[in-house]
Amino acid sequence: MKRFVAIAILLVFIFSSFKWIDDFAALYPVYWPKPTYDFSKNKFSKEKVELGRKLFYDPIFSKNNKISCASCHSPYSSFAHIDHALSHGIDDSIGTRNAPVLINLAWQKYFMWDGSILNLDKQALTPITHPREMGESMNHVISKLQQSNVYPILFSKIYGDSLIKEDRVLKCITQFLISLVSCHSKYDSVMNHTASFTKQEQNGYVLFKRNCAACHQEPLFTNNQFSKNELAVNTSLLDFGRMNFTDDRKDSLLFKVPTLRNIEYSYPYMHDGRFTKLGDVLNHYVSIKPSVHNTKALQKGMKLSSNEKIDIIAFLLTLSDRNFIFNEEHLYPK
Ligand code: HEC
Ligand code: HEC
Repeated sequence: MKRFVAIAILLVFIFSSFKWIDDFAALYPVYWPKPTYDFSKNKFSKEKVELGRKLFYDPIFSKNNKISCASCHSPYSSFAHIDHALSHGIDDSIGTRNAPVLINLAWQKYFMWDGSILNLDKQALTPITHPREMGESMNHVISKLQQSNVYPILFSKIYGDSLIKEDRVLKCITQFLISLVSCHSKYDSVMNHTASFTKQEQNGYVLFKRNCAACHQEPLFTNNQFSKNELAVNTSLLDFGRMNFTDDRKDSLLFKVPTLRNIEYSYPYMHDGRFTKLGDVLNHYVSIKPSVHNTKALQKGMKLSSNEKIDIIAFLLTLSDRNFIFNEEHLYPK
């Protein structure tokens, strides 16, 4: 009998220690690939997500206590910087890149347009310490958090003591970031067989698969690689993308292939926000002249009529996830 009770307790313990896997798996469809984020060092937990959310919206991370992560990553634009080509940080200083959407990050291997960050848990250090973003030091952030009325209590509820450490802060922010899963668009309903495309959307989908999916691969709409989509270099920024980081000429003008989910909300587009409309994006792709020097998928150029461009845009709009954009769990915490 005693042995039976011991085994039962052990089983309950084993199952409950794996519950976080189910909690995260419940957030995405079964047909998606497994996430690439290494959960072993930061097990998914709703309590940490909540604390991470509070931190994400808190301007305490900036030197003047005015800029929060959400200043540049607004929930209403799928966590991109709404209407800003280049992001604005502390004291109105202008950055050099467009803030990307923050969705489905648990499936990404590289972060930033040039992939210069490989570990999502360390990503937040860059904006916090960047002189044109939040301009703060991590030590000072920690002491501000430790002195606050609320944070020591919140951290002790999770960790059993009120010590606020860099590692704990960063991992809680990551928890909120990875909880931002967008998978309830019309496209997803069509894939689940609970909705169907209109004729125009279906036509756009076929054209998309033919012209775009080599890089913007389903179901996450990125192949997680770096590529050149034949944009001319921005002459005022001289941003050479991945080469800035690797110093390798082969990487000149390669940028991370961005997801196209929620693209309706995340304008302006490209690493420097040069295009405001999806029509401008399509016009760019159609203007690429056939050349053997182009990226492989773009060597033949793209022939698309005006109607076909409109059909592709109609398809892209099926990637909009209103449930995600208006999900109260993502908004400023009450
Ligand atoms: C001043 C505006 C600004 C602030 C504040 C800011 N970010 Fe960003 N964020 C950006 C820009 C711009 C990029 C792209 C940078 C690049 O590619 O070099 C970015 C990139 C990212 C990425 C990488 C996404 C990807 O797909 O590669 C993550 C994650 C992120 N930010 C999270 C945060 C968090 C967390 C905070 C708060 C601690 C924060 N950001 C604060 C502007 C900002
Ligand atoms: C060879 C790979 C490749 C192909 C093919 C391709 N793209 Fe892209 N796409 C990229 C890369 C790389 C970027 C980012 C470039 C940058 O910012 O400099 C991008 C950016 C975009 C963006 C802007 C996203 C954002 O968040 O700013 C849109 C929209 C887009 N592509 C749509 C399309 C459509 C529609 C097609 C097909 C007609 C297509 N792409 C074909 C590689 C590709």
